Amino acid sequence: MRDLGRRTVASSLSALRDASPDTVATSLERLLDFAFGQSHVLLVAEDALERLGYVLFLDRMPDEVSGLAQAFIVYVAVEPHARRRGIGRRLIEAAEAEARRRDLPYASFMVTEENLSARELYAQLGYQTERRQLCKRL
Ligand SMILES: CC(C)(COP(=O)(O)OP(=O)(O)OC[C@H]1O[C@@H](n2cnc3c(N)ncnc32)[C@H](O)[C@@H]1OP(=O)(O)O)[C@@H](O)C(=O)NCCC(=O)NCCS
Repeated sequence: MRDLGRRTVASSLSALRDASPDTVATSLERLLDFAFGQSHVLLVAEDALERLGYVLFLDRMPDEVSGLAQAFIVYVAVEPHARRRGIGRRLIEAAEAEARRRDLPYASFMVTEENLSARELYAQLGYQTERRQLCKRL
């Protein structure tokens, strides 16, 4: 899981910031460590031979503005060779079902502007932009 994260996290780096792939991979490690230290749900997609992807969400991380409970999706990734087969969609749908089972009324996460494949997937599933993170090089 950490290995798939390391191999895919570059798609979360925006063009606005100069960062080395190593630094980005380390940030993901820190994020995963943080998530595993909290109450979390990890769903793994697999076939008979191998793991194909996963979604990880926090179930006790309310929205910081409204204070309302939510499933905060930390990361979702699918093995490159298994993409465009609906696995990402099914992972998110499974996370949503698990969130509903836990009486969480919302699902939310952050996505990098340039990550068009992820944005397209989320848009198809009905996610809307709630806030924007702005950045300017100084
Ligand atoms: C984002 C990601 C999880 C999608 O996984 P996936 O299994 O390929 O997604 P799906 O097959 O379920 O795709 C569902 C829909 O999303 C959209 N989509 C997915 N990949 C796309 C791409 N490369 N370009 C355009 N649209 C894309 C399509 O609308 C697709 O439906 P379609 O295939 O019927 O056209 C995968 O690309 C990934 O692991 N990316 C790297 C990690 C990452 O960026 N995670 C998100 C962090 S916020």
